[in-house]
Amino acid sequence: MANPLNLREYEALARERMTGASFDYYAGGAEDEITVADNEAAWRRLRLHPRVLVDVSNVDCGTSVLGTPVAMPVLTAPCALNMLAHADGERGVARAANESGIIQVLSAASSVSMEDVAAAAPAGVRWFQLYCSRDRDVTRDLVERAEAAGYTAICLTVDVPILGRRERDIRSGFHAPPSIRLANFAPYAADALPAVAGQSGLAAYVSERWDSSLDWNSVAWLRSITSLPIVAKGVLTGADALRAAESGCAAVIVSNHGGRQLDSCVTSCDALSSVVDAVGGRSEVLVDGGIRRGTDVIKALALGARAVLIGRPYLWALAADGEAGVRRALALLQSEIVMAMMLCGRVAVSEIDRALLG
Ligand code: GLV
Repeated sequence: MANPLNLREYEALARERMTGASFDYYAGGAEDEITVADNEAAWRRLRLHPRVLVDVSNVDCGTSVLGTPVAMPVLTAPCALNMLAHADGERGVARAANESGIIQVLSAASSVSMEDVAAAAPAGVRWFQLYCSRDRDVTRDLVERAEAAGYTAICLTVDVPILGRRERDIRSGFHAPPSIRLANFAPYAADALPAVAGQSGLAAYVSERWDSSLDWNSVAWLRSITSLPIVAKGVLTGADALRAAESGCAAVIVSNHGGRQLDSCVTSCDALSSVVDAVGGRSEVLVDGGIRRGTDVIKALALGARAVLIGRPYLWALAADGEAGVRRALALLQSEIVMAMMLCGRVAVSEIDRALLG
């Protein structure tokens, strides 16, 4: 399968190229992986109600996210340790995202430092995803470094008070090889995942270092130390989304962390409308989890999302063919979005409304 025809087809290529433990780390989720499967199934269940005889000879799938113009309503989600997939790692994703005209959300747990990622694609727009360390000085330093390196938003992950129980990783004793480090944490001598047989090295790292006491006061604290917009990632209820908006978050990301945290929780697709309704335009609403097709993107926009994030699909494309793979996967997704818009009789993303879902 030299030329995958869609995002799903990259997964088989990635499986051939990656070590079993690294592939399982990306592919897997919490416990029975009910939510991993549900996320995709939820988008597949929705049905589109297209309009016809609309002049769609000029379709534009561009939009803006937090004021940044983007070529399509898609961002690359923050995923840890991209070099497990390919030596191009986060630098390759940065270049591919920039060339595709979209925003990269860099994981705090990246295998290339945020400064080196920024240098790899200086013209690109990037957000920095933050995990709060128990040591607030470390957290503050990460935020200051992100500002200095030109990141334009801080994406605070709010659904990891503890790492979900990922049994594939416990079984494999998941940890990164010595050459692959949590590069952003090198200045704090905290860049290695412990290797302990029968334990997830990442789970051990998270419970030792990251702050499970995070609450809404922490959001206020974060606002007090940065002027960058804050995006709360991992919200699944209208009540929390409203609280985030009232706490000054510029955007919320409806997400269950790709089914990697609380298994059997609501899918991001099913949670989306109640979040959109609760927020009522006070902040932008983005969504991730199970997006695999242009039609999924259209469905998310019809439910009120401003944009979507993709995670595993770009990791599989990176594993298959490095930076070029990510570029091609993004081009495939963009052409699917444009085709779906044409077939739905919508020439601009602003025309994608709830009526499209009947
Ligand atoms: C880290 O965020 C992970 O989900 O593994």
